[in-house]
Amino acid sequence: MFPGVAFRADHPRLSCGFAGTERQHESAAHFRRPPVSHAIDAAGRAPLDIRTDEPQPAHGRRNMTAPASPASGTGLSQSLNQVLADSYAVMALTHLAHWNVEGQGFFALHTAFQVQYEELFTAIDEIAERIRARGHYAIGGLAQLARTAQLEEFAAPLSQEDYVARLVAANQKLLADAAVARDRAGEENDPESQDLMIARITLHQKTLWMLRSFLKS
Ligand SMILES: [Fe+2]
Repeated sequence: MFPGVAFRADHPRLSCGFAGTERQHESAAHFRRPPVSHAIDAAGRAPLDIRTDEPQPAHGRRNMTAPASPASGTGLSQSLNQVLADSYAVMALTHLAHWNVEGQGFFALHTAFQVQYEELFTAIDEIAERIRARGHYAIGGLAQLARTAQLEEFAAPLSQEDYVARLVAANQKLLADAAVARDRAGEENDPESQDLMIARITLHQKTLWMLRSFLKS
């Protein structure tokens, strides 16, 4: 997800450090997971469609959350860490698009992307601090965030329409994981986290509306 950062399943330094253990094989398999849209197909759901942003139901959804870690929490805290990683990834991709977009829509998109990545930067801090308030640790570091987000990266140059379409897909993935966290917050009776996730969903629904409006011919 981050420019210039490639992740290889067979790279020794990207294994979990338990050489020759079953855990290492699980970790390698994790890195080899197909792109998100394919994983969703394998789980029996419809592929992501950039024209709609219906949040995916929590039940029957494949567990796409961060690797299990007692420190970063389970259940809701794990879901919040997933949204944290997604948000970091979307911020980086939006920043990439801000730098490299070209064409007739340059000024509008360059400015809109800046508004979006700056808002995400603030939101990321809020999500991480909510995780801390719940007594767990926020995940971080580019490799860990990318591994957790599992967002499909893109690189320059792309057409302005392709940048927007890729960001639609990235925002949709984030939105779906935020819906999972929202529902878990309800199940775990944590209205503050639920409120935070509802706010994030509302924001990304608005972002999707704007991005899709640009693509409309
Ligand atoms: Fe800039």
